[in-house]
Amino acid sequence: MSEKKFFITTPIYYPSGDPHIGHCYTTVACDSIARYKRMQGYDVIFLTGTDEHGQKIQQKAAEKGVTPKEYVDGIVENFKNLWSYMNISYDRYIRTTDDYHIKTVQTIFKTLYDKGYIYKGEYTGKYCTPCESFWTQSQLDENGCCPECHRAVTEAKEEAYFMKMSPFADRLEKLLMETDYLRPKTRAAELVNNFIKPGLEDLCVSRTNVKWGIPVSFDEKHTVYVWIDALTNYISALGYLNDEYNDFDSFWPADIHMVAKDIMRFHALIWPAILMALELPLPKHLAVHGWITFNGQKMSKSLGNVVDPMILGERYGADAIRYHILREMALGSDSSFSNEIMINRINSDLANGLGNLVSRTVTMAEKYFGGTLPEEKTADPALDKELISMAEGLRDRVDEYVENTALNLALAEIFKLISRANKYIDETAPWILAKDEANKPRLACVLYNLLESIRISTSLLSAFMPSSMPKVWAQIGASAEDVSYENAAKFGVLPANVTVCRGENLFPRIDAEKEIDALNAIISEQAAKAQAAAQAAQSDDRDGAGLEPLADMIGIDDFFKSDLRVAEVISCERIPKSKKLLRLMLSDGFGERQVVSGIAKWYAPEDLIGKKIILVANLTPAKLCGVESQGMIVAASVGEDARVIFVDKDIPNGSKLG
Ligand code: MSP
Repeated sequence: MSEKKFFITTPIYYPSGDPHIGHCYTTVACDSIARYKRMQGYDVIFLTGTDEHGQKIQQKAAEKGVTPKEYVDGIVENFKNLWSYMNISYDRYIRTTDDYHIKTVQTIFKTLYDKGYIYKGEYTGKYCTPCESFWTQSQLDENGCCPECHRAVTEAKEEAYFMKMSPFADRLEKLLMETDYLRPKTRAAELVNNFIKPGLEDLCVSRTNVKWGIPVSFDEKHTVYVWIDALTNYISALGYLNDEYNDFDSFWPADIHMVAKDIMRFHALIWPAILMALELPLPKHLAVHGWITFNGQKMSKSLGNVVDPMILGERYGADAIRYHILREMALGSDSSFSNEIMINRINSDLANGLGNLVSRTVTMAEKYFGGTLPEEKTADPALDKELISMAEGLRDRVDEYVENTALNLALAEIFKLISRANKYIDETAPWILAKDEANKPRLACVLYNLLESIRISTSLLSAFMPSSMPKVWAQIGASAEDVSYENAAKFGVLPANVTVCRGENLFPRIDAEKEIDALNAIISEQAAKAQAAAQAAQSDDRDGAGLEPLADMIGIDDFFKSDLRVAEVISCERIPKSKKLLRLMLSDGFGERQVVSGIAKWYAPEDLIGKKIILVANLTPAKLCGVESQGMIVAASVGEDARVIFVDKDIPNGSKLG
């Protein structure tokens, strides 16, 4: 057991449907960090799991005619299969239906109640009578109806427990603004301005109508609602207030919680508040990444825009998929997934870059020396120095990127060495050296330097691509010790008379055109299925019902009098003293302009920032609440609600519609 402890977590996933590639990013990223830390000699606990309670699961199970537990058991199996397929080396898998977790949650709830942080109150929300479910405004469907049965909802109240948030406001603000907790730190101000400054709202922590949940021990008609149940997993899995494990004292606080941006708020505000209330140390870092998007939308099964990671893995190998998603995602921003980018990346970095370097080097060692390098070697510092110093310093540079959870940059750094080594082959031209027997010691040195560069880069790469690197090591004749973390900072570790052994082509080049067609066909099929399922769900005959009547016919010239442009929301804020209005700064391709829009009831500023919308660009400016509006953003009227029309991120600002 090492003295150095490291605890890293993914969110616990909802097993409401099978996992998709969107779920893979966090898990693969945490896995790579966990592997890297193990290489560095840390005693690691890498935790993942499933968040198994709640209304959605209850309803899905009822639809299938099974118990909620039976329903989640099947999906948890699929999550575990995917993780094993993707080589995810988790140390612990928590299910919130596990008895020990339930015990911890109940004890924490009672402690917070006894301390006066939890109190009984009344919850007000949108209620769907047929489904017996409360929904928040943002959960409603596009018609403002129940997201499950799509029938009208009403405003209703029920008894519920709440957790006080205001006692923690000052400490939370300090945590976000003055410490290194949140990564990227640039998101701290948005949380402070949007949630802490306006006054933190108390959190609803129990429900009486959600039966599939952990009962509140002292008031059994209530179940614990979502976040206290879910967030507590990070400590119950270490044995906090239960007898299942005994790792809390040595592994808490967590080194890294990694989450996507949609659940940042819960981890940046609510989780630290719960820990503060329990007087426990706070986690060291919260690393927030964006979404994997497809055509500008978050990947999700219901949108029919996902390709099953298993299908991709079967075609290109799990490591290629791991590499692609890690390389594309910069912490803090979204990463757009496209088959083209993925295939080009695999071809350029893995097939042409790494695969080619290994196969050229090993082939030359076999061709010129029968596979075993001679001991006698001649260095040429002028040509060798840059490669060697780049290789020797690589580990420190990668360490720093991993330390800062910048995995895309860690990979970019490793691939710089791989490209440099490929360039070194061109500079040293071994095939010319081979023509003259007198040059053999120099040729042996060139090949040795290449093998060393491969050894160093692949030792570090093995944390990210664990299944293919051992195949490289077998080809370059490296032992387990040669590829240790300690040796990754040293040049000259392989024996001088190393023997190589040519093996399979590690990353075969992909026929891009053919593959893209094949993947697009799979996606279209999935999208058609998702659409059919969505239509089936809206089985009510609601065509035309509640819609505004069609307007009178106009000519095309009339239509073109409106100048409709694509624009991007650069910033957005509420207009003080107005409940309805938001002030948006837009980039419209020509410059920036200010628009005021009456959509504050349906959208928070952070829902709009960074999105592309449609702007009516030639409306005469008007003042709303004393603020000038230079145009209007297009929204659809859906019953009483307004829904902004968002457009694909790839469409340039200023593009004209029509
Ligand atoms: N159960 C909660 C988390 C509780 S943690 C104490 C939950 N589950 S989830 O399954 O809906 O999402 C889990 C994580 O997967 C979230 O961070 C979510 O953003 C992430 N992703 C789901 N789809 C994603 C993409 N398309 N891209 C990147 N991450 C995505 O929220």
